[in-house]
Amino acid sequence: MKVLIASDHGGVNIRKEIMSLMEEMKIMYEDLGCECSNSVDYPDYAIPVAEKVANGEADFGILICGTGIGMSIAANKVKGIRCALVHDVFSAIATREHNDSNILAMGERVIGPGLAREIAKVWLTTQFLGNRHEKRIQKITQYEEEYCYQNWN
Ligand code: RB5
Repeated sequence: MKVLIASDHGGVNIRKEIMSLMEEMKIMYEDLGCECSNSVDYPDYAIPVAEKVANGEADFGILICGTGIGMSIAANKVKGIRCALVHDVFSAIATREHNDSNILAMGERVIGPGLAREIAKVWLTTQFLGNRHEKRIQKITQYEEEYCYQNWN
């Protein structure tokens, strides 16, 4: 399993926390920034992570900004991405089991590093349940196939 992680300047501390978690869990990851000595723009980080997850270069992505909202909005523009903005452990489990989310977004101005770590831990280890949830995902995928243009190939 390979995970891509990125943040804007508003999510650096949680990004570091989650990278240390992934080292402990022996999960292979790649850090796509930001360097963040200055203010940066979250779409410049969300879109490359989302494109790489969508085209199979990585299995999952984790994106952190101040609220998680900008990152999730931007990532969900990419065809094939199901980015879940999560700030509690219950939703972290549910979004893997039910939505097969492939990117996790969190907001560092909303939750602290301890909760972010717990959320990431369960999100990274919970499996999609399939069955009745599969056909719901397929309806989203079918809509994307019919109506959403993707130009990263
Ligand atoms: C940056 O100030 C902030 O807008 C960003 O981190 C994020 O919260 C956007 O959704």
